[in-house]
Parts: sequence; structure tokens; C-alpha cells
Amino acid sequence: MNESTFPPGVQKYIKKGQTMTAAQTAHRARMRQMKFDTIAVHGMYGMEAALANQGSIVEPGYFSSAQHFENSDHMEASLAYLMPSWTYSRIANPTVHYLEETLALMEGYGFEGKVSACATASGMAAVFMATNPFLTTAEGDGRANIVVSAKCYGGTFMLFQERYQAERGIEVRWVRHALDLDEWDSLIDENTRFVFGEMPSNPTLAVMDIAAIAELAHAQEIPFIVDSTVATPALMRPLNHGADIVVHSVSKSMATSGFAIAGALAARHDIPSQVGPPEMRANFALYVKLLPARDFGPGMSPFTALMVLNDLRALRHRMDYISRNTMQVADYLAQHPLVESVRYPGLENDEGYAIARKYMWLVDSEDEYGTAVNRYGHLMAFTVKGGAAAARQMFDQLQMIWRATDLGRIKSVATIPAISTHQQQGETGRDLAQVPLNLVRLNVGGEHPADVIADLEQAFTAVRHTSVFALQK
Ligand SMILES: Cc1ncc(COP(=O)(O)O)c(C=O)c1O
Repeated sequence: MNESTFPPGVQKYIKKGQTMTAAQTAHRARMRQMKFDTIAVHGMYGMEAALANQGSIVEPGYFSSAQHFENSDHMEASLAYLMPSWTYSRIANPTVHYLEETLALMEGYGFEGKVSACATASGMAAVFMATNPFLTTAEGDGRANIVVSAKCYGGTFMLFQERYQAERGIEVRWVRHALDLDEWDSLIDENTRFVFGEMPSNPTLAVMDIAAIAELAHAQEIPFIVDSTVATPALMRPLNHGADIVVHSVSKSMATSGFAIAGALAARHDIPSQVGPPEMRANFALYVKLLPARDFGPGMSPFTALMVLNDLRALRHRMDYISRNTMQVADYLAQHPLVESVRYPGLENDEGYAIARKYMWLVDSEDEYGTAVNRYGHLMAFTVKGGAAAARQMFDQLQMIWRATDLGRIKSVATIPAISTHQQQGETGRDLAQVPLNLVRLNVGGEHPADVIADLEQAFTAVRHTSVFALQK
């Protein structure tokens, strides 16, 4: 929009907006020089913002649905998106803005280029908002396809399979073996709208070579989207390795207390895409926020943003010690006679170990440990000998570890994906994603690992005497 076409009164506000934007840009540049923990603690909420907020040293919660304007000129400039403002809470909100800036700084940590973020009401809203803009029917001839790792969260599987493929005719090309670059390569072509993978994946902890897949996608000018929920930016930042867009279920380790359902996407500027307007490629996250998200309405509540900001401040430390706890639990399970197999990328015999070791590092760990250290997060899975019945018996005996379809929690939680998170995709879908009936997914929390192990041990002991195992002898 050409600013000179606006009346002089509106132009005055546009100029004021330019000054406000310049101050924000300078503050962002200062924060980009800070260490990860400092970013997690302060984000973009500094002294200037505090003084404009009664001196509050914590980000204030703005629960008002709408913004009052000084006059009609201020209103017009704001609604034309020509000055920083938030207008209406479905479109933007100051509290949510502080979270978005923090997430962009975290995902962009160590990345040279510019990064922006858009917060959403859930992780699924983030997956939807990160992918739907590439599926416009106005362009292309109806032969659009998407290339997606089959090892992904059940909700993501259903979005792609049911909503996109079955309802809209977009071909989903499932990658069965995320580590197989030839498979990715053979599925990407000139009609591919985006390439998508989860790392590590829920629930089987599959990994993929992000840099190599980004190269394959970029050779065709196609964006590569990574769901990095399980790793969090404390352990992996895909934009540093060539990914274009990162999506998160912020509901998980980022909001570990369990008080929020939340999501976010973070994107580098100037992404590749065969479709969409230039402004979408220039700043994908901002484009999504101001246009498609305005129209679809998946915005995050400011209350949720406050909860998440609060949990984010100690993210790095939490991911460090809970990853170490999880390693101990994985080692225990790997030795257990009633466990068939363990999926945890930190185990040396895990098929993803080499790739996980390449990408999953505790951010700034050299400052603390004298050398960079790998950390692999707090999600793992294992299969129980004796099949589905044995897995259910063991699961039913847990006394402290919660039985719930949740992960990322500070409290240990377990589920059987085949009857919960991955139930609705059916047997064929589960075969594709390699989710067997006897797979137990375990999110190790912040309890002392000895107590987590003790709970697992008593659960195994209780089923050791049941008929399922008696039959095995
Ligand atoms: C890897 C991953 N992505 C996305 C989602 C969806 O997130 P939400 O439940 O916040 O919508 C989940 C939920 O479990 C997930 O595990």
C-alpha cells in the first residue's frame, strides 16, 4: 500500500510507526547478541516496554479484546498494518507478541538471517497454518502433492491424510524411512508444494538428516518444514541447518507445567516456494499472522502466552537435566528382560543415533560443561515382550507415571499410541508409521530417575506373573 495515498493525519501516524519499528528493530538486534538463557528470561520485554506498563518487570497480561485508538487517523494507519499496533486480539495481542518475539529469538539463535514467529492456539493450528498457505488451488493444475515423513504425530497424519488428501485431493506422498535420502528424493517433484518431517518424531523418535533434505527441497524451490516439538530450540534449531519453517506444539516441553495448549511457527525470511504471493515468501510468519490467521482465526489467548513465557525461562536447564534422567531410564529399559526394543536416539545402538548426534546439542553447553554436549530430550518409547496384552498389563500397573496422551511434561506420563494418539489413523496408517500395538511411549519428567525406574520395575514385576508371560516361558 502506498503511504502517500493516505491523508496527512494518517501519514503522521505512519511516520510515528516507523520510529516505533526502528526502536523494536534495534532492541531485537541487541537481544540477538545475548545468550540463549538471557533470551529465554527476557525475550523482547525490556525497560522501555516496562516503563510504558506501570514499571511491571514481568510481561503484562493484556486480556482486552480490542485496542482503543487516539483518533480515526490512528485507527486507519493501524488497520492498514502501517504502524505497530494490535487492533483486535484475534489478529494480534501485546502479550502474545512478547511470546512470538521470544520464540523467534530462540529458534533463530545462532542463525544469521532474520526469523519471525506466529503463535497459535494449538500445535495442530501451527501445523495447519504452516502448510495450508502452500495449498492454494488458484495456482497449479490440481496435481499438487506434499512429501511427508510417515513417522509423525497422529493428528498431523490425519490432517494430511483426511483433510488434505481425502477432502481436497492433494496427494500425500509418505516417506516410510525418514533416514533414507533416496526415498525423499524420489518423491519430490515440480508439483510438490512442501516437504515436511518431524524430528525426533512422536512416538517412535525417528530422526532425519535435516540439511540433506533441505538441499533436496531447495533444488526444486520448495520449502522444508520441520516439526521440532520434541527437541525444542534448547536442543535443536532446524533453521540453522537449512529448514525454512519450524512448527511446534508449544503445549509440550515449552509449556512443561501442563497449563496450556499452544502452538507456534517460526520461519526464516525469504523462503522458497513455487506458489503464493511475494510477501508470503518474504516473511512467511508475519504473512500468516496478518492475513490467513486473521481470516481462519487460530490465534493464541494472552493467558496462554503468559503461561508459556513463564515456562520458557528455564527451558535450557530443564531440557538438560530431564534429558539426562531420560538417558538413565532408557539404559534401564534397554537392559530389561521384558523389553523387546527401546527407541531413544541417545542410545548408541539406536538407528538414529549418528544423525541425532549431529543435530541435537544442548545450546550453550560449552559455557557450562567446557565442551558442547549432546542431549536427546525426554521422550522415548519401548516395545514390551508378549505383544499388545502384555504392554497393556504393564501399563495398567503404573502407580506414579500418569496414563495420559501427553508429553513434554515435568511429570512422567506414558501412553500406548496404538490405542490413543495413533488410534484413529487405523491399522494401515499405523503400519505406515510403524507404530506397533505393544509400543509404550514414555515422557520422562523431572522426578528423580530412580523413582521413575522403580515405578516401571514394579509394573514389570506385577505382569511377570501373569499368563501372558507365563505362556512365553
Ligand atoms: C510432534 C507433535 N506435533 C504437533 C502436535 C499437536 O499439538 P497440539 O496438541 O498442541 O495441537 C503434537 C501433539 O501431541 C505433537 O506431538
